[in-house]
Formats: sequence, structure tokens, C-alpha cells
Amino acid sequence: MEEKKTKQIFKSDSISLSRFIHKCLYDKELGFYQNNKIGSHFTTSPEISQAFGECVAIFLFKISSELGISKFLELGPGNGTLMSDVIRTLSKLSKKEFVFSLYEKSSFLKKIQLKTLTRYESKKIKILSLQNLKLKKQPYLFFCNEFFDALPINQIEKNDNLLFEKRVQYKDGKFQWKKYLIKNKNLSFLSNGETWEYSPLTNLYIKKILNHIKEFGGGFLVIDYGPYIKKKISTIQAIYKSKKCNIFDYPFFSDITYHFDFLNLKEHSEKFNLKFHGPINQRQFLYFNGINERINSLINHTQDNNVKIKLSKQFHRLTDPKGMGELFKFVFISKNDLNLSYFKKL
Ligand SMILES: C[S@@+](CC[C@H](N)C(=O)[O-])C[C@H]1O[C@@H](n2cnc3c(N)ncnc32)[C@H](O)[C@@H]1O
Repeated sequence: MEEKKTKQIFKSDSISLSRFIHKCLYDKELGFYQNNKIGSHFTTSPEISQAFGECVAIFLFKISSELGISKFLELGPGNGTLMSDVIRTLSKLSKKEFVFSLYEKSSFLKKIQLKTLTRYESKKIKILSLQNLKLKKQPYLFFCNEFFDALPINQIEKNDNLLFEKRVQYKDGKFQWKKYLIKNKNLSFLSNGETWEYSPLTNLYIKKILNHIKEFGGGFLVIDYGPYIKKKISTIQAIYKSKKCNIFDYPFFSDITYHFDFLNLKEHSEKFNLKFHGPINQRQFLYFNGINERINSLINHTQDNNVKIKLSKQFHRLTDPKGMGELFKFVFISKNDLNLSYFKKL
């Protein structure tokens, strides 16, 4: 089956890296996200502990109360775990009517999301699974965790003052790189030996959402993986059964990610004249939004020592300065001035 699919994809000599990633992750039959729940090969913060989503919900609640927003939209909700924690927490904090929208590409994950979330539907809680990103002319609070690092990218490399696009070919039964000389581009910001990663799809989504915020208000909480300033190197990696591997080792069976470009997001938000808060690391965000209190309360509510130990481990995993606590960053973009002093400036 994979062999047949591979031959179909590689009818031409080579394909762009973004098309290769798109096929590996989102092919309707074989795509990784069509066949794997989040947590089967790698885990994400919402899957580690409910406290993560509860802290995100507290942040969103404060902003929604300040700006009077009742619509929330998550991009790439995976298993629906973050949305579930957000809805549960917001419904406890407020008696208002809320609409929660999910924007997901994978039909497999869409089903899982609805199974997790329909139990929250009520007179005041509406849940919508969107077919496309058609937005109402009203403010939303958009949010996403590890959405952008799952979108396809391209890579351009500079060597001997020449630019090469890294494409993918299938030869002698294996995937391999094929470098194409580019003549009509001048990427003067690249030095020899450096690689520029760019994602046309990421830029499309960013522009669409920021344009909506500019027109109608609201905000966008972006949580993603990478340093504050992305290095000009290849950051692409695949994860197969929790271990890092080459993207060509297990196509269709491994997740493919790369470092998100926070500076690119900042530049876009400046073009739209929006306020850019952050990035701050996951540890800081969670501390400021009550993770200590939340985990302590969960620990105090159980007599079971094993559960207490498990909760404490989850807390450390999310906030560890040598791990997820530092690697993941939070940015908030808004039209209005907001007092978010704990978000440092990039
Ligand atoms: C790395 S997973 C993160 C899942 C979830 N946010 C979490 O933290 O557990 C990326 C998610 O984005 C979804 N996704 C990727 N590309 C998408 C696109 N173009 N449109 C909508 N969803 C997409 C994937 O199917 C998956 O649900």
C-alpha cells in the first residue's frame, strides 16, 4: 500500500518538501494524522495534565471578560483534550453563553474530538466542528497548541553563494534529498551554510487570523515549539514511537515537526498593527496562570499516594526548565492594549 502510494506521489522526478510532508501527515488514507491519536508516538502538553488546559482556560477567561468575547476557536485540536479542559473550566468560571469552534483537518481526529466534547453541549455551550475557516464578523479568541509546527514547510540552503531548494525524490527504493539550484531568488539574509525554513501555509493562516483580529478585535494565543529567535539551520525532525528519527525513515508512520518562527509571527502582527505580547516560556505562562495552586489542589483532593506522585511528575514535566517548560513558548496577539506585564518583549 505504501509502495503504491509512494509511486503515485513520485510520478514526477521530485516533489517539494512541503508536498512530501503534506502527503506523509495528511494523506486521506495513509497520512499520520489520519491514523494516529495524539499520544501514540509523541505527547503534547494538554495530554500530560489537565492542569495545562486549565491554566490556558484561566488566561482565556481573563481576556474574554476584559474584552467581552464569547467565541473561542482552536486550530488543530488533536484529541480535543485542551478544548475539553478549556470548556470545563470556563463553564465553572462563568454562567455566560459561549461558542467553541474546532478547526481540524484530519477526519479521524475530528471524530475523536466530537466524541470527547459533545457531552459539554447545553443551552449555553455550543460546539462547532468547522469544515473551513469561514469566520463570523465578530471577535474570537483563537488559540492553538503545536498547530503550526505540524504544517508543511520548505527549505532553502545557501552554499558557495548559490541557493538550493531541498526537494525530495524516491530513488532505488528510498527517499532522498534532491537539491535544485534556484536562480531567481536573492536571500541576502542567508549566509553560506545556512538554511531558511518557510511555510506558505503557516503564513496564510497567520494572515487570515490577524486580519480578522484587526477588523473585529479579539486575540490569538499561540503555543509552539522552538527558541525565541529561530536559527537558520534545518530544524525538521520526525518522531516514531517517541524516538527522534530521520523524516525519510518512517514516512506515513512518524510525526514530522520543525521549530516555529516566532519572529515571523511578530513581523506579521506589526504589519497588521496589532499588539504582540511575548514570547514567554511555558513555565512562566503556567506559573502566572496558577499551575502551582491547581496541582496542589488536585494533590490535596486525593488520598492515593500514587496519584499524588503522578500529579507531581506531570507538574515537573510541564514546567521543567530543561524540557517542555523552556522549549515551548506562548505568544498573545491582540488589537487592544492589555496589561500583560508578565509577557516579556521579544
Ligand atoms: C501536533 S498536533 C497538536 C494537537 C493538539 N493541539 C495537542 O496539543 O495535543 C497538530 C494538530 O493540527 C492538525 N492540523 C494540521 N494541519 C492542519 C490544517 N491545515 N488545518 C487544520 N488542522 C490541522 C492536526 O491534524 C493535529 O490535530
